[in-house]
Amino acid sequence: MTEPTDEGARPASADRALGGDPPGSQEGQAPTGAPLLELRNVDKNFGPVQALQGINLIIPEGQVTALAGDNGAGKSVLIKTVSGIWSPDGGAVFWRGQRVHIRTPKDAAALGITTVYQDLALCDNLDIVQNMFLGHEDLHLGMLNEIEMELTARRTLESLAMTTARQIRQPVASLSGGQRQSVAVAKAVMANSKLVILDEPTAALGVTQTAMVLSLVKKLTSQGVTVLMISHNLNDIFQVADHLAIVHLGHLVASGPASNFNRQTAVDYMTTGRSNREAAGSPALAAS
Ligand SMILES: Nc1ncnc2c1ncn2[C@@H]1O[C@H](COP(=O)(O)OP(=O)(O)OP(=O)(O)O)[C@@H](O)[C@H]1O
Ligand SMILES: [Mg+2]
Repeated sequence: MTEPTDEGARPASADRALGGDPPGSQEGQAPTGAPLLELRNVDKNFGPVQALQGINLIIPEGQVTALAGDNGAGKSVLIKTVSGIWSPDGGAVFWRGQRVHIRTPKDAAALGITTVYQDLALCDNLDIVQNMFLGHEDLHLGMLNEIEMELTARRTLESLAMTTARQIRQPVASLSGGQRQSVAVAKAVMANSKLVILDEPTAALGVTQTAMVLSLVKKLTSQGVTVLMISHNLNDIFQVADHLAIVHLGHLVASGPASNFNRQTAVDYMTTGRSNREAAGSPALAAS
C-alpha cells in the first residue's frame, strides 16, 4: 500500500517554527485524519553518503509502528532526524498536520517526542527513582521531594504493570536488561511523551525479558502513547506492530498495516528492497 505523498498539499500558513513558541503550543488537536508524525520527502546526507532519500513516512497516532531494515539501511539516522540529533537536508516534518522544525532534542521533547536509545542513558549508580527523575527532580522548598517522587515513580511503574523490580530504591546497575529498558520507558511516560521511539528495545534481551518489554509497548498504546519501534526481529514486529515501515539503502520501500505483510514479504523488502510476493489477500505494499 502506498502512503500518501501529497507534498505541498497543505497551506504555507500551516508551517510553524519551533524554538520561539512555548512548549505545548503545538498541542492542538490534529486536523481530521492527520497522523501524529509525518515525514515528507526527507533527505539526510553525510558527505557522499545518502543516508535517507525522499522518505515519506506516516506514524499513525495511538499505534505501534515498527521500523525495520537491514544493517545500514538508515533506521537510526531516521529516528535521530526525528529526535533532533540531525536536521534533515531536504523535505519537511509534520506533527499532527502542522509543519515543525525539530532542530534539537529539546525541540523534540517540547513536542512530546522521547527517544530511548539502545544504551538507555541510565546511571548505574543511581536507583530507579533517581533515574526516573534525573534532570527534572521534584523540589519542595529547595529540597528534593523524595516521598512524592517515589510515589509517582511507583505509580508509573505499576500503571505499566512493571512490577518485577524488587525494590524501587535498588540501583539500576542491579537490574536485568529488560528491567532497565522498562525503567527507561517509564521515564518517557512520566515525561508525558506522546511519541516514544525505541531503538531495538529487545536486541539484548532473553525470552522472558523480551515478552515483558513487548507487553510494555502494548501497554503504552493503551495509555494513548504512540510508539515507533526499530526492530530487526520479525517475531517482535508481528507480535506488537499495528503498522510496519521498511527501509532499504536509505529508501522507504514499503509501509502499511502490519497485517498486509507476512514474514516472507517483510524479509524480501528488508533484504532486497522489493517483493514479488503479496501477503494473502493484501494489496501491493511498495511505498513511493
Ligand atoms: N554520523 C555519520 N556519519 C557518516 N555516515 C553515517 C553517520 N551515521 C550514519 N551514517 C551512514 O548512514 C547509513 C545509515 O546508517 P544507520 O546508522 O541509520 O543504519 P541502521 O539502519 O540504523 O543500521 P543498524 O541496523 O546496523 O543499526 C550508513 O551507511 C551509515 O554508514
Ligand atoms: Mg541503527
